[in-house]
Amino acid sequence: MVHSTKTNNLLVEATQFIQNCYDELGMSNEKQLERIEDIKNEIDTTGTYTHKSFELTHGAKMAWRNSNRCIGRLLWNTLHIFDARDVRTAEDAYEKLIEHIDFATNEGRIQSTITIFAPRNNGVDPIRIWNHQLLRYAGYEEADNVIGDSASIEVTKMCEEMGWRGAKTPFDILPLVIQETGKQPKLFEIPGEIIKEVPIIHPELDGVSQLNAKWYAVPIISNMRLEIGGIDYPMAPFNGWYMGTEIGARNLADPDRYNLLPKIAEIMGLDTKSNRSLWIDKALVELNIAILHSYQQAQVTLVDHHTAAKQFKIFEENELKSGRAVTGNWAWLIPPLSPASTHIYHKPYNNEISTPNYFYQGDPRED
Ligand code: ARG
Repeated sequence: MVHSTKTNNLLVEATQFIQNCYDELGMSNEKQLERIEDIKNEIDTTGTYTHKSFELTHGAKMAWRNSNRCIGRLLWNTLHIFDARDVRTAEDAYEKLIEHIDFATNEGRIQSTITIFAPRNNGVDPIRIWNHQLLRYAGYEEADNVIGDSASIEVTKMCEEMGWRGAKTPFDILPLVIQETGKQPKLFEIPGEIIKEVPIIHPELDGVSQLNAKWYAVPIISNMRLEIGGIDYPMAPFNGWYMGTEIGARNLADPDRYNLLPKIAEIMGLDTKSNRSLWIDKALVELNIAILHSYQQAQVTLVDHHTAAKQFKIFEENELKSGRAVTGNWAWLIPPLSPASTHIYHKPYNNEISTPNYFYQGDPRED
């Protein structure tokens, strides 16, 4: 029987989680005590414990609810959970990831989804993924410019070192880089048929379609660690759907990403010599109109920032009614376009971190 600080902490975390989870699900004190006793015994003999399926499901939803940076949390209870804890090989993990992409995309009617792979076990991660998102564009550093997404330069280099060659368009979908514990990472191409992308067009400015810009339908964050009741899930890719400004005011607009604003301004015939012409602001608004219009035309789920803020207000009200304190990260919650037009801008948020939650983590180890 091992009694270290580590297993003591684990029992404390587990107990807290079981109490909250079972309370929320309306389960009796007796059930809680029984479960905590079982977990204690399991930790004593194995050093860890295994979540029951409904604990995993509710824990993943709680983790979304506790994500201080996320404006989309009203929908926390609609998350679909795929349990992939029994997967041990990169090949089988790849199958599950393809299923995730396909299910989440759902021909454009996006479904919020998480696939949860094996937990860390006594310090060992059975399986990890190197990608930041399951779908993301490569970035190639050339002599004096970048082709594609500058946010992907490092992972693109890694793929090239492993023998991958992209077509070097600005929108090459990266392969998945999956690593089993103690082995070299392996590369897997995502079949084109299951990747939904949206060509960027504008309802009035015809020139916009000639930029040949596009973006993918589903943002599936894959490099964060899910923590539930002291158990770490280092591979647990999850998705909601996009808020328009993520693409229109950041990915395609940031000067060090796709930098489209000067091109939009040119199409609009604006004076880009003078800051005071507000050409940046005008171009930004039209690019964001283009994103909203394009996703609508393509029938892909996406929310505008005004609607998202209103939904977040309802989330705040719901949480208070449920007797839970709302935590949030103001700097992340305000949209990058017209922030002061939302209620979020005008009040403070408490950025304390509760668990379950999703956390940043380092890259997998290269053994
Ligand atoms: N901001 C990231 C991107 O533009 C995606 C983050 C998650 N976003 C979401 N709507 N769930 O790719």
